[in-house]
Amino acid sequence: LSSLSQVLDLIVVGDCNPDLVITGSDVIPTFGQAEKLVDGMSLMIGGSAAITAVAAARLGLRVALVAAVGDDPAGELMLSALAGERVDTSAVLVRAGQPTGMTAVLSTGADRAILTAPGAMTSLTAADVPPLRARHLHVSSYFLLKRSLGPGLPGLLAAARGRGLMTSVDTNYDPAGRWGDHLLSAALAETDVFLPNEAEALGISGEPDACKAAATLSGLGVRSIVIKLGDRGALCGPDGPLVAVPAVRPVDTTGSGDCFNAGLIVGLLDGLDLPRAVTLGCAVGALSTAAVGGVGAVVDRSSAEVLAARATITGDASVESAGVD
Ligand SMILES: Nc1ncnc2c1ncn2[C@@H]1O[C@H](COP(=O)(O)OP(=O)(O)O)[C@@H](O)[C@H]1O
Ligand SMILES: [Mg+2]
Repeated sequence: LSSLSQVLDLIVVGDCNPDLVITGSDVIPTFGQAEKLVDGMSLMIGGSAAITAVAAARLGLRVALVAAVGDDPAGELMLSALAGERVDTSAVLVRAGQPTGMTAVLSTGADRAILTAPGAMTSLTAADVPPLRARHLHVSSYFLLKRSLGPGLPGLLAAARGRGLMTSVDTNYDPAGRWGDHLLSAALAETDVFLPNEAEALGISGEPDACKAAATLSGLGVRSIVIKLGDRGALCGPDGPLVAVPAVRPVDTTGSGDCFNAGLIVGLLDGLDLPRAVTLGCAVGALSTAAVGGVGAVVDRSSAEVLAARATITGDASVESAGVD
């Protein structure tokens, strides 16, 4: 970990796997040994944590990823692709004899279906995360990793906070459909910014709408909550504003929430207040949909800032538009 002795901005902990993104208007497989042609298939950096790490590095942060891959070609592909994006991979674990996790994304553009084989990803524990010096710790894909990472996660987040790091968590979707448990509640009590999307917020809280979900989830002890609402933007906190950038017509929405997280963290580390940091998150999330895959569209800091300046912040009397000052 020699290269990690220098101070980092961001440590991202979570899932790391190649995404096979399959695109077309009809990407639904037909059984009975039928072959179907699709528009395209591309193999690229995937996994919510890896996508957030790459997006943050492209926005200028010094980023390390902590994840587990196997000792196979898919793992080697991930390590070299991440290094090419200037993401520090010295703390990525390579598990001998285990396959690297892999995801197939069937994408029609606006919607997608996802098949994941977790492989080595789900061997990651809190003890595998070195106490790196950084300014922010972000944890992705709680539900995917909860059996290995869940038990130690509250302690990991508390220890990071104790060393002065800001913490954020994006659970992503629960493939088991069980949603919250006492370990997630304990982790959220050590979380500064909780970043679910709308479906996840409703699933975890059991509430019927995003406003009620934000109120219920705030009661679990998170300092701030931001609920991602797709092309409608994002809701800050139970009482905070709705933030949105002008809607874009997406080519592919894979990873938009993960790119949103990167933009938001960049804003927070720059000292922006939450709604303004969320404008940067919305901008990075929106711009990330311009190409196939989570990292297909390269979003730089200045184009994100241009779009963030066009954001609307509604429901908060103190600010009408992010562009006013
Ligand atoms: N079509 C779109 N137009 C503008 N912004 C978008 C669009 N799709 C996504 N975004 C931005 O990306 C963020 C994350 O997308 P969302 O789909 O809600 O998350 P996730 O990918 O986790 O499901 C949204 O909050 C929004 O800011
Ligand atoms: Mg997400």
